[in-house]
Amino acid sequence: MEFFIDTAKVDEIKEAISWGIVDGVTTNPTKLAQAGRPLMEVVEEICQIIDGPVSVEAVSTQAGPIIEEARKLAALHENIVVKVPLIKEGIKAVKVLSAEGIKTNVTLNFSPSQALLAAKVGATYVSPFVGRLDEISHQGMELAQQIKTIYDNYGFDTKIIVSAARHPLHVLEAALIGADVTTMTFEIMDALFKHPLTDLGLEMFLDDWKKVPQ
Ligand code: E4P
Repeated sequence: MEFFIDTAKVDEIKEAISWGIVDGVTTNPTKLAQAGRPLMEVVEEICQIIDGPVSVEAVSTQAGPIIEEARKLAALHENIVVKVPLIKEGIKAVKVLSAEGIKTNVTLNFSPSQALLAAKVGATYVSPFVGRLDEISHQGMELAQQIKTIYDNYGFDTKIIVSAARHPLHVLEAALIGADVTTMTFEIMDALFKHPLTDLGLEMFLDDWKKVPQ
Protein backbone atom coordinates (compact mmCIF):
# COMPACT_ATOMS: atom_id res chain seq x y z
CA MET A 1 0.00 0.00 0.00
CA GLU A 2 1.31 3.47 -0.83
CA PHE A 3 1.51 6.15 1.86
CA PHE A 4 0.76 9.73 0.87
CA ILE A 5 1.33 12.51 3.38
CA ASP A 6 -1.66 14.79 3.70
CA THR A 7 -0.13 18.22 4.14
CA ALA A 8 1.30 21.25 2.31
CA LYS A 9 3.81 21.95 5.11
CA VAL A 10 7.20 21.34 3.52
CA ASP A 11 8.98 20.72 6.82
CA GLU A 12 6.56 17.87 7.64
CA ILE A 13 6.99 16.40 4.14
CA LYS A 14 10.80 16.54 4.37
CA GLU A 15 10.85 14.87 7.83
CA ALA A 16 8.45 12.13 6.75
CA ILE A 17 10.43 11.48 3.56
CA SER A 18 13.50 10.87 5.75
CA TRP A 19 11.62 7.95 7.34
CA GLY A 20 11.64 6.14 3.98
CA ILE A 21 7.91 5.44 3.80
CA VAL A 22 6.38 8.36 1.83
CA ASP A 23 5.21 7.70 -1.75
CA GLY A 24 3.37 10.93 -2.51
CA VAL A 25 1.63 14.05 -1.21
CA THR A 26 -1.98 15.21 -1.11
CA THR A 27 -3.04 18.79 -0.58
CA ASN A 28 -6.35 20.64 -0.65
CA PRO A 29 -7.30 24.31 -0.20
CA THR A 30 -7.49 23.85 3.59
CA LYS A 31 -4.01 22.28 3.75
CA LEU A 32 -2.65 25.07 1.55
CA ALA A 33 -4.22 27.73 3.78
CA GLN A 34 -2.63 26.03 6.80
CA ALA A 35 0.77 26.15 5.05
CA GLY A 36 0.24 29.90 4.54
CA ARG A 37 2.24 30.17 1.31
CA PRO A 38 1.38 31.02 -2.31
CA LEU A 39 0.14 27.99 -4.27
CA MET A 40 2.70 27.98 -7.05
CA GLU A 41 5.62 28.50 -4.64
CA VAL A 42 4.72 25.65 -2.31
CA VAL A 43 3.67 23.22 -5.06
CA GLU A 44 6.91 23.75 -6.96
CA GLU A 45 8.91 23.15 -3.75
CA ILE A 46 6.96 19.99 -2.93
CA CYS A 47 7.54 18.66 -6.46
CA GLN A 48 11.27 19.18 -5.97
CA ILE A 49 11.46 17.19 -2.72
CA ILE A 50 9.29 14.17 -3.55
CA ASP A 51 9.51 11.89 -6.60
CA GLY A 52 5.89 10.78 -6.46
CA PRO A 53 2.30 11.91 -7.09
CA VAL A 54 1.46 15.39 -5.75
CA SER A 55 -2.26 16.13 -5.62
CA VAL A 56 -3.30 19.76 -6.05
CA GLU A 57 -6.96 20.81 -6.12
CA ALA A 58 -8.70 22.72 -8.88
CA VAL A 59 -11.14 25.20 -7.32
CA SER A 60 -13.36 25.84 -10.33
CA THR A 61 -16.83 24.27 -10.25
CA GLN A 62 -17.78 24.25 -13.94
CA ALA A 63 -16.34 21.69 -16.38
CA GLY A 64 -14.73 24.20 -18.75
CA PRO A 65 -12.85 26.18 -16.10
CA ILE A 66 -11.91 22.96 -14.25
CA ILE A 67 -10.35 21.64 -17.47
CA GLU A 68 -8.44 24.88 -18.06
CA GLU A 69 -7.25 24.99 -14.43
CA ALA A 70 -6.22 21.33 -14.58
CA ARG A 71 -4.17 21.84 -17.73
CA LYS A 72 -2.26 24.69 -16.05
CA LEU A 73 -1.66 22.69 -12.83
CA ALA A 74 -0.57 19.60 -14.76
CA ALA A 75 1.91 21.70 -16.73
CA LEU A 76 3.73 22.62 -13.47
CA HIS A 77 5.34 19.19 -13.08
CA GLU A 78 4.93 15.64 -14.41
CA ASN A 79 4.04 14.38 -10.92
CA ILE A 80 1.07 16.72 -10.49
CA VAL A 81 -2.27 14.97 -9.99
CA VAL A 82 -5.21 17.35 -10.33
CA LYS A 83 -7.87 17.04 -7.64
CA VAL A 84 -11.40 17.49 -8.94
CA PRO A 85 -14.51 17.47 -6.72
CA LEU A 86 -16.99 14.63 -7.24
CA ILE A 87 -19.73 16.79 -8.74
CA LYS A 88 -21.36 16.41 -12.17
CA GLU A 89 -19.22 19.19 -13.64
CA GLY A 90 -16.15 17.54 -12.16
CA ILE A 91 -16.99 14.17 -13.69
CA LYS A 92 -17.53 15.85 -17.08
CA ALA A 93 -14.11 17.49 -16.74
CA VAL A 94 -12.35 14.26 -15.70
CA LYS A 95 -13.70 12.53 -18.82
CA VAL A 96 -11.88 15.11 -20.94
CA LEU A 97 -8.76 15.23 -18.78
CA SER A 98 -8.43 11.42 -18.82
CA ALA A 99 -8.45 11.48 -22.62
CA GLU A 100 -5.65 14.06 -22.52
CA GLY A 101 -3.56 11.93 -20.17
CA ILE A 102 -3.84 14.36 -17.27
CA LYS A 103 -3.78 12.52 -13.94
CA THR A 104 -6.80 13.18 -11.72
CA ASN A 105 -7.78 12.55 -8.12
CA VAL A 106 -11.57 12.74 -7.74
CA THR A 107 -12.06 14.07 -4.23
CA LEU A 108 -14.85 14.61 -1.69
CA ASN A 109 -16.16 11.11 -2.37
CA PHE A 110 -18.80 9.93 0.12
CA SER A 111 -20.72 7.15 -1.66
CA PRO A 112 -19.88 4.03 -3.67
CA SER A 113 -22.10 5.16 -6.54
CA GLN A 114 -20.10 8.39 -6.76
CA ALA A 115 -16.89 6.32 -6.87
CA LEU A 116 -18.37 4.25 -9.73
CA LEU A 117 -18.82 7.47 -11.70
CA ALA A 118 -15.17 8.44 -11.10
CA ALA A 119 -13.94 5.09 -12.40
CA LYS A 120 -16.20 5.21 -15.45
CA VAL A 121 -14.60 8.47 -16.61
CA GLY A 122 -11.09 7.17 -16.04
CA ALA A 123 -10.07 8.96 -12.87
CA THR A 124 -6.53 8.07 -11.81
CA TYR A 125 -7.53 8.14 -8.14
CA VAL A 126 -10.72 8.41 -6.09
CA SER A 127 -10.59 9.77 -2.51
CA PRO A 128 -13.26 8.44 -0.12
CA PHE A 129 -13.23 10.69 2.97
CA VAL A 130 -13.67 7.94 5.56
CA GLY A 131 -13.00 10.11 8.63
CA ARG A 132 -15.68 12.62 7.75
CA LEU A 133 -18.22 9.80 7.47
CA ASP A 134 -17.15 8.34 10.82
CA GLU A 135 -17.70 11.78 12.34
CA ILE A 136 -21.41 11.64 11.41
CA SER A 137 -21.87 8.06 12.65
CA HIS A 138 -21.47 6.37 9.28
CA GLN A 139 -19.02 3.51 8.68
CA GLY A 140 -16.34 5.30 6.66
CA MET A 141 -14.29 2.20 5.97
CA GLU A 142 -17.41 0.43 4.68
CA LEU A 143 -17.37 2.93 1.82
CA ALA A 144 -13.75 2.05 1.02
CA GLN A 145 -14.61 -1.67 1.09
CA GLN A 146 -17.60 -1.18 -1.22
CA ILE A 147 -15.48 0.79 -3.68
CA LYS A 148 -12.80 -1.93 -3.65
CA THR A 149 -15.46 -4.59 -4.36
CA ILE A 150 -16.98 -2.58 -7.23
CA TYR A 151 -13.60 -1.79 -8.78
CA ASP A 152 -12.49 -5.43 -8.51
CA ASN A 153 -15.79 -6.61 -10.01
CA TYR A 154 -15.17 -4.62 -13.18
CA GLY A 155 -11.39 -4.36 -13.28
CA PHE A 156 -11.37 -0.58 -13.04
CA ASP A 157 -7.87 0.94 -13.00
CA THR A 158 -8.84 3.85 -10.74
CA LYS A 159 -6.83 3.67 -7.50
CA ILE A 160 -8.45 4.12 -4.09
CA ILE A 161 -6.89 6.68 -1.74
CA VAL A 162 -8.36 6.23 1.73
CA SER A 163 -8.59 9.86 2.83
CA ALA A 164 -9.56 11.98 5.84
CA ALA A 165 -7.87 9.39 8.03
CA ARG A 166 -8.27 10.22 11.69
CA HIS A 167 -5.98 7.65 13.38
CA PRO A 168 -3.57 4.75 12.66
CA LEU A 169 -6.43 2.21 12.66
CA HIS A 170 -7.74 3.81 9.46
CA VAL A 171 -4.37 2.94 7.90
CA LEU A 172 -4.60 -0.65 9.19
CA GLU A 173 -8.18 -1.06 7.99
CA ALA A 174 -7.27 0.40 4.59
CA ALA A 175 -4.45 -2.14 4.27
CA LEU A 176 -6.75 -5.01 5.29
CA ILE A 177 -9.24 -3.91 2.63
CA GLY A 178 -6.49 -3.71 0.01
CA ALA A 179 -6.82 0.00 -0.71
CA ASP A 180 -4.10 1.25 -3.06
CA VAL A 181 -3.16 4.26 -0.93
CA THR A 182 -3.81 5.85 2.44
CA THR A 183 -3.17 9.56 2.76
CA MET A 184 -2.52 10.65 6.30
CA THR A 185 -1.32 13.56 8.38
CA PHE A 186 2.23 13.78 9.70
CA GLU A 187 0.91 12.93 13.17
CA ILE A 188 -0.83 9.74 12.02
CA MET A 189 2.22 8.65 10.01
CA ASP A 190 4.41 9.25 13.10
CA ALA A 191 2.01 7.27 15.30
CA LEU A 192 2.42 4.16 13.10
CA PHE A 193 5.91 3.61 14.52
CA LYS A 194 4.88 3.70 18.15
CA HIS A 195 4.19 0.81 20.52
CA PRO A 196 4.90 0.92 24.29
CA LEU A 197 5.92 -2.77 24.36
CA THR A 198 8.54 -2.13 21.70
CA ASP A 199 9.97 0.71 23.78
CA LEU A 200 9.85 -1.40 26.95
CA GLY A 201 11.39 -4.41 25.23
CA LEU A 202 14.22 -2.36 23.75
CA GLU A 203 14.93 -0.79 27.14
CA MET A 204 15.13 -4.29 28.71
CA PHE A 205 17.40 -5.58 25.91
CA LEU A 206 19.77 -2.64 26.29
CA ASP A 207 19.83 -2.99 30.07
CA ASP A 208 20.60 -6.72 29.80
CA TRP A 209 23.21 -6.08 27.11
CA LYS A 210 25.18 -4.14 29.69
CA LYS A 211 25.36 -7.37 31.74
CA VAL A 212 26.85 -9.39 28.89
CA PRO A 213 30.60 -9.96 29.56
CA GLN A 214 32.52 -8.04 26.89
C1 E4P B 1 -6.96 14.23 1.04
O1 E4P B 1 -6.74 14.26 -0.16
C2 E4P B 1 -8.11 14.96 1.64
O2 E4P B 1 -8.26 16.26 1.10
C3 E4P B 1 -7.96 15.02 3.13
O3 E4P B 1 -7.60 13.72 3.60
C4 E4P B 1 -9.19 15.52 3.82
O4 E4P B 1 -8.97 15.40 5.19
P1 E4P B 1 -9.80 16.24 6.25
O5 E4P B 1 -11.16 15.61 6.33
O6 E4P B 1 -9.02 16.10 7.51
O7 E4P B 1 -9.87 17.66 5.73
